[in-house]
Order: sequence, then C-alpha cells, then structure tokens
Amino acid sequence: MEKIGRNDPCWCGSGKKYKKCHCEFDDIIREHELKGEIVPPRSIIKNKEQIAGIRESARINSLVLDYVAERIKEGVTTEDIDRWVYERTKELDSIPAPLNYEGYPKSVCTSINEVVCHGIPSKDVVLKDGDIVNVDVSTIHNNYFGDASRMFCIGNVSEEKKKLVDITRQSVYLGLEQVKPWGHLGDIGQVINDLAKANGYSVVREIGGHGIGLEFHEDPWVSYVTKKGTDMLLAPGMIFTIEPMINMGTYKIKTDEEDGWTVRTADGKPSAQWEIQVLVTETGYEVLSK
Ligand code: MF3
Ligand code: CO
Repeated sequence: MEKIGRNDPCWCGSGKKYKKCHCEFDDIIREHELKGEIVPPRSIIKNKEQIAGIRESARINSLVLDYVAERIKEGVTTEDIDRWVYERTKELDSIPAPLNYEGYPKSVCTSINEVVCHGIPSKDVVLKDGDIVNVDVSTIHNNYFGDASRMFCIGNVSEEKKKLVDITRQSVYLGLEQVKPWGHLGDIGQVINDLAKANGYSVVREIGGHGIGLEFHEDPWVSYVTKKGTDMLLAPGMIFTIEPMINMGTYKIKTDEEDGWTVRTADGKPSAQWEIQVLVTETGYEVLSK
C-alpha cells in the first residue's frame, strides 16, 4: 500500500483527510493482509459519491425489471421482453448495459429452462405454458452500473421446476446474510452450494458473480462453490452481485457454438438463477438492485 500522510487527501477520492476517512480501514486491511488473506484492492472500494451514483443506477435497474414483471406472460416473445427493456431503460435516461457489450446483440438476457444464462432474445422464441425464464437486466446510468435478474414462472410450471426456482432464490438470500464487513466472499459460496447440494442440485462453476459499479464487470469474481473463511475479505464500500446458477442435474454446461453466447446445461435439465446487487456497509449489507 502506498504511504499517505494523515492529513493528505484520502485515496478514495472523498476529498476528506486520510485520518478522517480510510485510515482505520487501511489498518484493518493490513492486519488481514499480514495473516495472508486476499484483501480487496483500493480500486474496488467505492466512496460515498460513487455509491450514491451506483445506488441510483441500481434503483433504475429494478424499475426496469418491475416493468418486465408486469407484462411477462405466455405468448410473448423474448424479443418483446428485449423491446420493453430497451424502451423502459431509455425512458429512465439510461442505457441497457448488455447492448453491444463484447458484441452482445441485445439489451437483455432471457434464459429459458435448460438455458443457464446469456440467452439472446429472439422473435422466434415464444414463452409457453410451463416455462421458467430468467430475465437479466443491467443498466448504465450516468456511467454507473446496475445489475439484477429474476426468474418468472409461465403458466402452470411443474412442482419440480418451481422448487428449483424457489431454492435458487432462497440460496441468494442465504448468501446475502453472510455479507458483512471483514467476513469473506467464500462464506457466500459455502451456504449457496450447501443448500443446492442438500436439494440434490448442482451449482455452475465456470460462471459467477462479479464486482460492479464503475464498470459492468469488476473484481472480485464471485464463485458459489467456495469454502467459508476463504476468498477475498469483504470490506465496506465493495459492491458485487450474488447470482448463482443452480442446475437440476449436472453442473456441467456448454456454450452454443453458433451464437457464442447461449449457455445450456450439458444434460438438458433445467437451470435457475436469481441475481441481486449488494453493497457491503459499515454494519452489514444493503441490497441495491433485486
Ligand atoms: N447480466 C450478466 C451478468 O449478470 C452479464 C451479461 S453479459 C451480456 O453478469 F453481454 F450477455 F449481456
Ligand atoms: Co451480473
């Protein structure tokens, strides 16, 4: 860590004196670092102003998801959902983050049944009775990023699939309860993986959550098969997503070779995902988008 004088401006960009800002924070970080723990780099610790901006983008992100929730039903195409997301996001003075992101062609990801994530909306894909679908919305507002996803059950969904959707949601909130300053990222993955396994499910390994705020995807990468007490130390000012993908069958996945995006379960069994965006606060957590 760079040496800063106690009366110098803090490295976080708050404009406050270091001794009145992140000085104590750095002492705690140093202690953990000496114990050999992985500590968050300064670049992912957000200051008050940044948090306010990200909170607003995340709020808008949830409003876009609400808009989808009010309209989604049997018979709509995933392209309809894409249009709703595009229009509502624009109406709220924002930009859909997926659009043109690394060549992604649409404004939202719509992942049905055995599609794990990154399903591309299409006019040819109609939601039908019994489908489970994840709608993953990400927003840029004033250069700040919001990100969350929800599952929707279309019409009469089998008990088996409903349970998968339910347990996946529960796992996210169980993971959330682990979020506190000076806890560890691995605590989240442990409880999520435990709950999935207890129900005979498996957790996707290659794709996970991520830091977010100033960029769409920042450090840390968040795994949901980690062990308690391991992985990055959690510190106030960190913002990341909790977004496990839980499969009814094997954890193995494959990416569509033609479109390069759509990820499916290797065995064709259903998969579910919920995503929330979380801030680590001085006392615990704040959910920014859900
Ligand atoms: N919204 C996804 C996430 O939760 C990212 C999708 S990238 C895209 O991280 F390009 F496919 F949109
Ligand atoms: Co995400």
